Amino acid sequence: METLECIKTRRSVRAYTDEKISHATIEALVEAAKMAPTWKNSQTVRYIAVEDRAMIDKIAAEGTLGFEHNKGILEGCSTLMVLASVTKRSGYERDGSFSTSKGAGWEMFDAGIAAQTFCLAAHDMGVASCILGIFDDSKVAEIIGLPEGQTVSALIPIGIAVEAPNPTPRKETADILSYR
Ligand SMILES: Cc1cc2nc3c(=O)[nH]c(=O)nc-3n(C[C@H](O)[C@H](O)[C@H](O)COP(=O)(O)O)c2cc1C
Repeated sequence: METLECIKTRRSVRAYTDEKISHATIEALVEAAKMAPTWKNSQTVRYIAVEDRAMIDKIAAEGTLGFEHNKGILEGCSTLMVLASVTKRSGYERDGSFSTSKGAGWEMFDAGIAAQTFCLAAHDMGVASCILGIFDDSKVAEIIGLPEGQTVSALIPIGIAVEAPNPTPRKETADILSYR
């Protein structure tokens, strides 16, 4: 798929068939996502593919802050990619101080670029995905046994789409672009 076509046709997909995503495909997606740019090439994003049904259901039940919409999405996926970030590196100087006034914000910035790179690669390979931001990060970390020094940045359920999603509206370019 052409790059622009991939960018423009990717949609968040929230309903998946029972078909499992193979490890070869998951590995190809991480191979692509790891090419995302990162703060000083710090590469702090980690990918935890959760396939265990009981673990996904536990995340759905206990790690979605009572948001039924996300609970339902997770219950319907057979692979949940958890994007985690090694903390206190992206946006930091070696002495532990922040490099810029954005403080620790660059950590999530890196995770966001990685998430979109992952989702675009998935779309290119016929795999549907949806970035989820509403979750209980400490509860998800506990359920998946995330190592100390890492935090959960995003949940990305993946699978084969049940149906082609409808396009979502976007603002007019003239409304979001300005020149100086
Ligand atoms: C940071 C972030 C958090 C999001 N969190 C959720 C979420 O918790 N649940 C959900 O269903 N969609 C979530 N989405 C998906 C957005 O709703 C979706 O990207 C937006 O509506 C545009 O639709 P599209 O991705 O199909 O173009 C999130 C997207 C982003 C980038």
